[in-house]
Amino acid sequence: MKLLFSAVIIGLWISQGHVMKSWERFGLSLIKSDQLQRLAIYGEIPLCMKRGLVDQQIDLDVLLDAIDLPASRRPPIYVYTGRGPSSLRLHWGHPIPFQLANWLSGLTGGPLHVQLSNDEKFYASDTQSLLDIERFTVENERDIRAICNTDRLFMSRNTQNIADLYTTAMPMAKALPIGTLREVFGLDDSAPIGRFLQPLWQMAPCFADPDPRALCVVACAVDQYPYFRVARAVAERVGKRKPIVIAASQFIPALDNPGSKMSASSPKSCIFFGDTPEVVHSKLSRAVSGGGRTIEEHRERGGDTSRDVAMQLLRAFLEDEAEWTGLVEGYKRGIILTAQVKKRAIGVVNELLAGIEKRRNESIKASCE
Ligand code: TRP
Repeated sequence: MKLLFSAVIIGLWISQGHVMKSWERFGLSLIKSDQLQRLAIYGEIPLCMKRGLVDQQIDLDVLLDAIDLPASRRPPIYVYTGRGPSSLRLHWGHPIPFQLANWLSGLTGGPLHVQLSNDEKFYASDTQSLLDIERFTVENERDIRAICNTDRLFMSRNTQNIADLYTTAMPMAKALPIGTLREVFGLDDSAPIGRFLQPLWQMAPCFADPDPRALCVVACAVDQYPYFRVARAVAERVGKRKPIVIAASQFIPALDNPGSKMSASSPKSCIFFGDTPEVVHSKLSRAVSGGGRTIEEHRERGGDTSRDVAMQLLRAFLEDEAEWTGLVEGYKRGIILTAQVKKRAIGVVNELLAGIEKRRNESIKASCE
């Protein structure tokens, strides 16, 4: 099986800030307007999809056909996403796949499985100890619960869920030649064995339902697609249906670089969950803007929304559609100034952060009672 893509290349591409116009080569297609229309029949489309951050799919039509069926004939449907804990708290690049997954779970009425791959970064990095990762996992779980506050949520940690993962992965471990993993994940003979195991654990939940008609809908960012492309390729051989994938291809940028991806490894250019309103204010005030160098220049030439970090945050998180289009228009025409855009972004981020902290504290309290 020759696969026309490599996780290593995709990862590099994204971390270097290249925006891929089309993921078609890798097997994903743009979400089409007729698919959005069909989704809209079932309720409001989530912001991340409406604003085009989540814009890639494969087999979305299969999902739409399944939810159109009367309940008695519907196959079981469940939603799957995950996180490899690598920092104490989540940051603003993280919520989108979870928001998407949460919405999909509401749409389908199906369970939402969030996998915490607390083995992944241990194998992939030389610096993170199992003890660090254990701390991250506890806190990340709380953050994710605060985003996905549904009682359909099921969270698992790989190290604890290993018996189920192992049993589910066995047919795959037999059907997949090691050369496929080598090629897709850029592993050679010197790669640690753990890096060959980890893809099995990430793919296994796609096949966790014993019903062969079951549909797994994966919500993720495009850089995770290689795992699911392999899962799709092996599905038939393990007697299961191919996972449906809906993916975000646009990332929240680092505060100092509008073309990049926000990353915890550069804390100053990253807004973390748990940052105080003052910290958010000071970090965002210094973010790169797409405005003119002087007010006069800005009034004359207008601002560049695509180079403006605050605008990118507002695009992803400002719910009010009329306000959003007004901001874009006003900014482009130089009527609205950088300082106004930043102020609004600070407001939106702080409001969302306050909601997250509140839900997080409530659930911590509830679990202690
Ligand atoms: N590999 C992902 C990360 O690096 C974590 C993850 C595990 C995941 N299972 C998943 C992501 C399923 C999306 C879907 O954070």
